[in-house]
Amino acid sequence: MPRRLLPWEKPLNILRTTHNQKVRIDLNMKLPELKIGNLKASLPIVQGGMGVRISLASLASAVANEGGIGLIAASGVHPQELAEHIREAKKLTDGIIGINVMVAIREFKELVMTAVRERVDVIVAGAGFSRDIFIIGNEYNIPIVPIVSSEKAARISEKFGAAAIIVEGKEAGGHLGTDKPLFSILPGIIKAVKIPVIAAGGILKGSDIAKVFSMGGKGVQMGTRFAASEESSAAPAWKEAYVNAKSEDVVLIKSPVGLPGRALNTSFVKDLLANKIPAHTDIKRCVKCLKHCKKDFCIIEALENAQEGNMKKGLVFCGERVGEINNILSVKEIIKNLIEEFKESIFGGKSECKKEL
Ligand SMILES: Cc1cc2nc3c(=O)[nH]c(=O)nc-3n(C[C@H](O)[C@H](O)[C@H](O)COP(=O)(O)O)c2cc1C
Repeated sequence: MPRRLLPWEKPLNILRTTHNQKVRIDLNMKLPELKIGNLKASLPIVQGGMGVRISLASLASAVANEGGIGLIAASGVHPQELAEHIREAKKLTDGIIGINVMVAIREFKELVMTAVRERVDVIVAGAGFSRDIFIIGNEYNIPIVPIVSSEKAARISEKFGAAAIIVEGKEAGGHLGTDKPLFSILPGIIKAVKIPVIAAGGILKGSDIAKVFSMGGKGVQMGTRFAASEESSAAPAWKEAYVNAKSEDVVLIKSPVGLPGRALNTSFVKDLLANKIPAHTDIKRCVKCLKHCKKDFCIIEALENAQEGNMKKGLVFCGERVGEINNILSVKEIIKNLIEEFKESIFGGKSECKKEL
């Protein structure tokens, strides 16, 4: 029987990035690990936080159980409800659990402090920039990871103490901070900072992950693919809408948050684009969810409708590549496919990375 190989005898391949850094890819390992501060994720995949109530305990814990980072979406839920989701997730996994919270949310600080009290491993902040969150992260020793779309925001985040940054391109689902493609902004931002850079927006296949590594990225964040997983808390009708969607069904809307948002062309969105949706001022049930609401329509109501499966009245956020998703899979299957595709693109010669080997 052949002798078992010692760790240093196992086959290793060196992936050389465009900045001439070396990334060691162990053929027997899944993917390079992702380090954020003292955290170490054995799988460099962050499941993007998806509100309202799309990424909760079941999805986040399933991703964490595979070695990735699972994020519970805090935006649009009451702090007490968030605490319950975090506790539930922690019962389901010993892996890395964090939250995603939008800076634009009025209860931003309460939600962050709830996550701190519930001892999450990481806090990701999107849709805006907050200095306070770095003070909180520093005081309670929790890594803070802002979502950025420019070199300037990346540099400022690093200066304030970000443990890593997520760079999100225009292909992403939900609110957008740029109209530029991910791979056009990623190399410049990687050059601009020393902290780990995680790429988001349109990451769907293992070959996309390989491309991110070839540029010097340290991980990826994926939203849309996980929204169409068995464990996502979206209604079955939502998941079906994803599977049936074609690329031409994806549109941009103006969100009351003050940013563009990428979504499916549901009847609600068609009416919105035709100016047929009453402005927010006509809506009685306002919970003042945003710090500054543009009052184009009630976003919380539209997102909740979608999550519950009311496609007619719902706002279904989705990434640009939703048309390429044609099945609802378990998180385990999604990750298995990604790893296989990643290895195939590195070692099978299907990606640009092959040239770099
Ligand atoms: C349904 C949906 C809801 C989202 N909600 C949030 C959110 O609450 N906060 C946030 O920062 N990003 C949100 N995002 C963005 C994701 O976290 C992630 O960065 C993005 O989806 C990545 O692009 P991809 O969908 O092409 O993978 C959302 C995305 C989707 C698809």
